[in-house]
This record gives sequence, C-alpha cells and structure tokens, in this order.
Amino acid sequence: MSPPSVETASTPVAADRSLFPASQSRIEGLRDRFHQVRKFTNALCAGLEPEDCVVQSMPDVSPTKWHLAHTTWFFETFILKKFDLAYRAEIPDYAYLFNSYYNAAGDMHRRDLRGLISRPTVSQAQRYRASVDSHIDDLLSNLDESLLDEIEPILVLGIHHERQHQELLITDIKHVLAQNPLYPVFRGRARSPSAPKISTDGSAIRPYQFVEFDEQIAEIGHDGDGFAYDNEGPRHRALVPAFSLATRPVTNGEYIGFIEDNGYSRPEFWLSLGWMTVNEQRWNAPLYWTKRDGAWWNFTLSGLRPVDQSEPVTHVSYFEADAYANWAGARLPTEFEWERAALNCPIEGNFVETELFHPVAVVSAVSGDKPGKGLHQIFGDVWEWTRSAYSPYPGYRAAPGALGEYNGKFMCNQYVLRGGSCATSHTHIRRTYRNFFQPEKRWQFTGVRLARDAQ
Ligand SMILES: [Fe+2]
Repeated sequence: MSPPSVETASTPVAADRSLFPASQSRIEGLRDRFHQVRKFTNALCAGLEPEDCVVQSMPDVSPTKWHLAHTTWFFETFILKKFDLAYRAEIPDYAYLFNSYYNAAGDMHRRDLRGLISRPTVSQAQRYRASVDSHIDDLLSNLDESLLDEIEPILVLGIHHERQHQELLITDIKHVLAQNPLYPVFRGRARSPSAPKISTDGSAIRPYQFVEFDEQIAEIGHDGDGFAYDNEGPRHRALVPAFSLATRPVTNGEYIGFIEDNGYSRPEFWLSLGWMTVNEQRWNAPLYWTKRDGAWWNFTLSGLRPVDQSEPVTHVSYFEADAYANWAGARLPTEFEWERAALNCPIEGNFVETELFHPVAVVSAVSGDKPGKGLHQIFGDVWEWTRSAYSPYPGYRAAPGALGEYNGKFMCNQYVLRGGSCATSHTHIRRTYRNFFQPEKRWQFTGVRLARDAQ
C-alpha cells in the first residue's frame, strides 16, 4: 500500500460530519492504537532526566526531546492542519523546528543542530504532545464515515512512524549515554524469561549450520493484506538461485575470532570503502566495545558489561558484516534470499516489548537444545544486514505530496536490513519490511547472518 497523498499541511478539508456517523467500534479501535503508541513513547522516557533528553551526540542522533516533538508534529501537520478546520497551532514555529525532511511540508531546522535547541524545554515538548493528543481525540469523536476513510490511513501511518521513532529514541539515547564515562543505566537488567542462564564465555555454543534452499522464482514484497510501507511493493516475482542460510546470527564469541585473527588489519577481507573507513575511524571492534585488562566489555542500555560471547554480535556496520563474512568463507544474504527463507518463520522473538533493549543469547547455545536445522532468531534481537542495495522494486513510484517523501527519496547509497531488533516493536515488523542504512552506520542494533552459494 502506498502512503496516502497529502498535498499540503495548510488545506483543511471541510465535511458535514453529521450525515453518516462513522462506526463507533472502528473509531475506538483507532483511538486505542493511537493512545497505546503515544503512551509507550512516554513510558520509554520514564527513567530519563531532562538533561538526558537534550543531548545530540552525533549528527545521526536526535535528542529524545526532538523525537517527542517530531512524532507529534507528524500528527499535527498531516491530520490536524488538514482535517480539523478549527485547529490553530499554539506555537506555529514548531512546524519549522520539528519537520525532519519533508520539503513539501515547508522549511526545516538543520538536523545536525538539533542538540543546540534548549527551548522548547522537555516539559514544553510534553505539553505539545498532550495538546495534539487531545485535539486528535476531539477530531476522532466527531467524524463521518468518509472523513474517517481519509484520516485512518494517515493516522495508521503516523502510528507506524512513531514506532520507528521509538526505536530511534532507544538507539539514540544509547549513543548519548555511551559518551558518559560514568556509563549511566537506561534500564536495569532483567533476565528474559526465554533466555536461560548460560555461560558467557561461549563454551556452550554449538556451531551454526546452513539450511539449504532450492532455486525458486519467489514472490517478493507485500501482498496487500494490512499495513505496509510503500517501499515493500509492488509485489513481484524474482529469481532466487539455490543458496543456504545460517541457522542463527553470528555471535560475539565468533566475532572475537575475527578480531583475534587480525580481521581489522587485513585488507583482503574488506571492501575498498570499508577499508578506508576502518583506517579513518580506527575501528578495531564493534561500536561500544572496549578492552579492559585483556577482556572485551561493551556498553549496553543496562550499563557497561563484559561481552557475552553467546549473544548475537551487534553494532557492526555493513562493512564489518561483509568483512566478517569473507573471513568466515561465506557471504551476506540478498534481501530476496532472506525474505524467501523467512516465509515460514513465525514473527516472534526479542522485540522492544520485552524491554531488555539488548539481544539475547543465540538459541542454539542453550544447553539441552537439540541442534536443529531450522532458522532461529530471524526476527528480533538484531537487524540483519543484506548485500542488497536499497532500491525501488519494479514498478515502484513514490506517491505525490509530502508523504511520498517518506521512503522513496532515500533509495541511494544504502543497504537493506531485515528482521527487526530488540528495539523494534513486534507490531511493526513484517517479513517484507525493508530497513535501510548507509554502510558505515553502526549505532543501530545491526548484526550478521551468513549465507552461502549452493555447494
Ligand atoms: Fe520521522
């Protein structure tokens, strides 16, 4: 489904709302989903102090306060200003401050300067949220069926947009807190009920295996049932030659093998641009790793902890994922291989709802687990880099208007990631979901699953 077209933010649509009142249950369902997502964003910030919420630790990171306000701006701009004739923005300048990249919605503040904005304060940003929430409530209380038909897809898009920002809020605050030598704790560590206690030295880990897939002309992309972003379509057929895919993601322990084999100083494993980046940035381990007295530690949202060798490696760039795969005698999967393999995998795993904010140990590491041939941890824990460039599917056209800018204009110089992470909402992920980042980025929960050509 393409995102709905919204021409501008300043052309309210008049409607006689008394003629065909919209079904109450449909409105209530929508209202519940709206409030649930808004409350969860607020809940994520519950342990943060105002001082935490204003820092921008690098240009890719936005302050928590900005996420709180920008997600609000989205509903205000694309719903209230368009559909609520009586709506007047209390502070019109927020439209400039909290627009992210929608050129058709007007000018915007520079992304890399968001951390210099001390006003509005965090509490003023929270008041902005509450005010817009209340206006959305009022609008939903007084809708006819045809207006609901227009508003619903945009409200649903706004809900999914907020879930994306919840994930960014988590990865951004992790980067912010990681700059602090006191290593602040975002959330105390709670053990996952599905993650039995095992040795952290990796001794219980069984080697990954490869699951083989025959050549197939696969149906790729969203089938039109339920919400999807426009970049997941059109659904089309693609030839996927025979391949095999690892049963689980690469672990920290396995990645340490790459480090100890001097993987970061051997150019034969690296793409040219990756090799340049490694040397410029002086990378010698995943982001957030530090060596103390000969042992690796990593900063997590529960503070600084020894690296657990049984967990999936995370915070690696595409360059590192690709170099690791070369070192391991394998390669990264294409996004079509991944989607084909995920077809029969249940969408379950360690998502943001578990509130661990960290990947859990690989399934095959669990003592007593039979070494199965199935795919584990396809969903949740870490986004899996694919070797597919983020580009339009055959027949894709970005929708006209501001919301057409949501995905299409980013289809250049980025790679596709699949499966979601421990910071993604379970309600947000799909088998066809295409995340995308530039190859040097590593502040998201990004990891590695290996693939091989048919033997
Ligand atoms: Fe956004």
